[in-house]
Amino acid sequence: MPALNGISFGVKKGEILGIVGPSGSGKTTLLNLVGGMGRPSSGSIIVDGEDLSELNDGELTDFRLEKIGFIFQFYNLISTLDAEENVELPMNLANVQVEERQKRARELLRVVGMEHRFDHLPSQMSGGEQQRVAVARALANNPPVILGDEPTGDLDSKSAKNLVELIRALRRDKKITFIIVTHDPLVVEGCDRVYSVRDGKIMKEFSQTDINHFKLSRNRDSLDELLM
Ligand SMILES: Nc1ncnc2c1ncn2[C@@H]1O[C@H](COP(=O)(O)OP(=O)(O)OP(=O)(O)O)[C@@H](O)[C@H]1O
Ligand SMILES: [Mg+2]
Repeated sequence: MPALNGISFGVKKGEILGIVGPSGSGKTTLLNLVGGMGRPSSGSIIVDGEDLSELNDGELTDFRLEKIGFIFQFYNLISTLDAEENVELPMNLANVQVEERQKRARELLRVVGMEHRFDHLPSQMSGGEQQRVAVARALANNPPVILGDEPTGDLDSKSAKNLVELIRALRRDKKITFIIVTHDPLVVEGCDRVYSVRDGKIMKEFSQTDINHFKLSRNRDSLDELLM
């Protein structure tokens, strides 16, 4: 059985799209395909005007490096590198010169409010701080799209709220498009639109109005239903 089947959707530039659904429904598979990690057995994926099916493996690697930033549930920072070096890493892979790399890494750490943590190792930072560094790393090569797989899954609610605010600010200031897989009501409230996925298919689309309704009613039960 295919992990995904008959899925068709578009995302606008500068939109924050949420993906919700039960475990095993295909959310991570979907995100990985959009990010050029793996190829669909049929169908097409077009990101920022590029049809991924037309790219060879080398071009797909460049695509991932230049067009996509990833943020993960457990941050996935390199434990032996400090914050600045972690943010420099994608620029390193993209052959950015060392001075430019350092300058930009510091700039990005300032953008995410981590200017006081330049030389801290991941083990010397809280989860919320590590995730902000991971966001700075995702921004390194200035990608138009950032993908998040449960980015608040390991955070306390205050850090989760701060992350959602950061994501909304980046969307506003840099017009970055976000696609975020989540089980977290706080994240859903920050999305412009949400799809619920089940058995590899999009079951339902929730508009900004639906999301605002959840927010205003503070009706956690209906939100939980959405998130199931
Ligand atoms: N590498 C793989 N090889 C074969 N099947 C896989 C692989 N990865 C995932 N699957 C299957 O694809 C389906 C979708 O998995 P996916 O990881 O996308 O789910 P998910 O919605 O992200 O779940 P979760 O919320 O638990 O992270 C599942 O049935 C899973 O068993
Ligand atoms: Mg998953």
